[in-house]
Amino acid sequence: MCPKQTSQQCPSLRKSLPGLRAKRGATNVVSRARSASRYFKAVKDASKVMQPEVTRYFFRGRVAQESILRAMNIGMGDEVIVQAFTCIATPIPILAVGAKPVFVDVDARTYNLDPAKLDAVTTRNTKAIMVQHTFGIPADMDRVLAFAAKHNLAVIEDCCHTLASSFRGQIVGTLGDAMFSSHRWGKPLVLGAGGRATIRRAEYSNQLLKLYEKAQPPGTLAVLQVLAEYVTYELLLRPSTFWWQRDLFRLLSRWHLVKPTFTRKEVGGRMTDAGWRMPALHERWLASRLKRLDENSEFRRSVANIYGAVLREMNAHICELDERYDPVFLRYPLLVRSKDRVLQLARKRAVELGDWYISAVHPMHSPAELRTMGYEAKSCPVAEMIADHVVTLPIHSKINSKQVRRTVDLLKELATRDLLRAA
Ligand SMILES: Cc1ncc(COP(=O)(O)O)c(C=O)c1O
Repeated sequence: MCPKQTSQQCPSLRKSLPGLRAKRGATNVVSRARSASRYFKAVKDASKVMQPEVTRYFFRGRVAQESILRAMNIGMGDEVIVQAFTCIATPIPILAVGAKPVFVDVDARTYNLDPAKLDAVTTRNTKAIMVQHTFGIPADMDRVLAFAAKHNLAVIEDCCHTLASSFRGQIVGTLGDAMFSSHRWGKPLVLGAGGRATIRRAEYSNQLLKLYEKAQPPGTLAVLQVLAEYVTYELLLRPSTFWWQRDLFRLLSRWHLVKPTFTRKEVGGRMTDAGWRMPALHERWLASRLKRLDENSEFRRSVANIYGAVLREMNAHICELDERYDPVFLRYPLLVRSKDRVLQLARKRAVELGDWYISAVHPMHSPAELRTMGYEAKSCPVAEMIADHVVTLPIHSKINSKQVRRTVDLLKELATRDLLRAA
């Protein structure tokens, strides 16, 4: 990479250090001072020209993702591989830049893209693989990175479900060429809004800086809306009242009283909030919240260990990972026989249970709806099977030991009623 190279090896560095060679050997103090100041200015300019790793914050994860795609010059005629068993937030930015999302099926063991299926969906137009670390479970990065290197593809990590999981001891988001994350509801670190974009390839990172310079801060109304939603989330959302709050949120968003997870425009396949930065307040807030990430991760690990131990004893279908994976779960997924019956029972017992993703490209259902996102019904059968059978157990800062116990009691009841799918 350029910054580690000498000016001879790196043409852009050479260009940005004008005249330094000619000044070598200057003896008087004035010229030394002048050359030193020129040197520092040139180094500053050079670092602007070729930032190896650049991070900027945008209004949402999907805006951060779109910015990465644009910075990488991905556009019309290009294809980006993205896993099925995802939500519309991932194909929309690809469509927004004029590229084509190409869906690859997943591995039922990890809920992540199946590297064995990458070859079948790669064409000469493929430019990048988007790797979603679903529910915080790292994707098999050994195979993804090897495949990408062989076919000269960029790897963009979708870290919206985790900021702390690691693969072979390396934190996810630091393995590919770029990463993005989200701080909206249901994410590892909730701020109400915000998405991080990081690019670590010098040839693209400068583009990200330029895009960010052109991006606008959100208007006061938008900032107040996300703050109001955040306060509501902090004050009201409790696992014991999860079901009626979910119903209320869905009702209010249908009446346009709160911003829905996906706007009507987005359901139609178009971006909203494009070109918006993360509010400055949220950026400062994120920096302070990140200091407590380890604590947050430890808590998640301990709750996941409880669920894992109980479900393993029941021989239920959970993800069994080898020693390369160290997941920090966002939610704990398991497969059940009848999703509807299990969700009804959870509602009755007042236990929080997630139903997403409800389809291969959540929340689209009919073949026509799925097609607006570039997904052909039945093209990824494993993803569709998982969407039909997955439920997720809560792991977040608002649950306490009493709720974990209630969740475990529900699992026992599901086992007694033979509603869990076997491993
Ligand atoms: C896997 C995944 N990627 C991307 C996004 C987009 O994040 P945001 O909602 O901040 O745009 C989400 C959230 O909806 C997500 O779950």
